[in-house]
Amino acid sequence: MKNLSFLASLSLLTLTFQFAIGYDPNQVQEYCVATNASTNGVFVNGKFCKDPSLATIDDFTFTGLDQPRPITDYAVNGQIPPHLHPRGTEVLLVVEGTMYAGFITSDLNGPNRLFSKILHKGDLIVFPQGLIHFQANVGTGPAVTVAGVNSQNPGFITVANAVFGSNPPINATILAKAFQLNITTIMDLQAKF
Ligand SMILES: *[C@@H]1O[C@H](CO)[C@@H](O)[C@H](O)[C@H]1NC(C)=O
Ligand SMILES: *[C@@H]1O[C@H](CO)[C@@H](O)[C@H](O)[C@H]1NC(C)=O
Ligand SMILES: *[C@@H]1O[C@H](CO)[C@@H](O)[C@H](O)[C@H]1NC(C)=O
Repeated sequence: MKNLSFLASLSLLTLTFQFAIGYDPNQVQEYCVATNASTNGVFVNGKFCKDPSLATIDDFTFTGLDQPRPITDYAVNGQIPPHLHPRGTEVLLVVEGTMYAGFITSDLNGPNRLFSKILHKGDLIVFPQGLIHFQANVGTGPAVTVAGVNSQNPGFITVANAVFGSNPPINATILAKAFQLNITTIMDLQAKF
């Protein structure tokens, strides 16, 4: 009986643990409105948090997503290239347009399995924490998406920029072997970033 309740609490612990691992530790403030101004601010996760008493409703709302804006990434055939967020799981909701989106599992899990789909207005996709993902406007008109990430500081690594555009550059011999290309091609790629 004792063993049984021990097992039960152990599986409860495991359960709790499984649910807990996707999240940042609890924050110790009610909210952090990011600001560039260090006056009256506290440095948290790479940004200054506004003095909470100076926050207004405008810090928590945004008006005008129904108005077309200048676009680069989401123009027809535009894309957010393969990238990852080391500390956050992302959810992407398509509000307008048609997107092709997907993510790839890690080398040891899958391995490198691609999950992808054409998403229409009202569809959403989850990109699990740390996995390489992408999204592209494959429709015939503009696209609008809303994305949320479950971390105060999810991070952003664009794969091609990191590999071919690092500062200083990675020795081209290393990349030539990794990508099975010759050094000239690698140097051409490095010159583009
Ligand atoms: C804060 O700084 C970033 C990077 O320099 C800039 O893109 C952003 O517009 C600034 N935000 C405000 C509110 O000044
Ligand atoms: C790159 O690595 C190769 C092979 O190890 C080496 O011969 C070459 O000198 C390195 N190039 C630079 C710029 O460090
Ligand atoms: C490198 O590879 C490219 C693409 O396959 C090829 O066109 C080029 O001739 C190669 N250059 C050398 C120096 O082998």
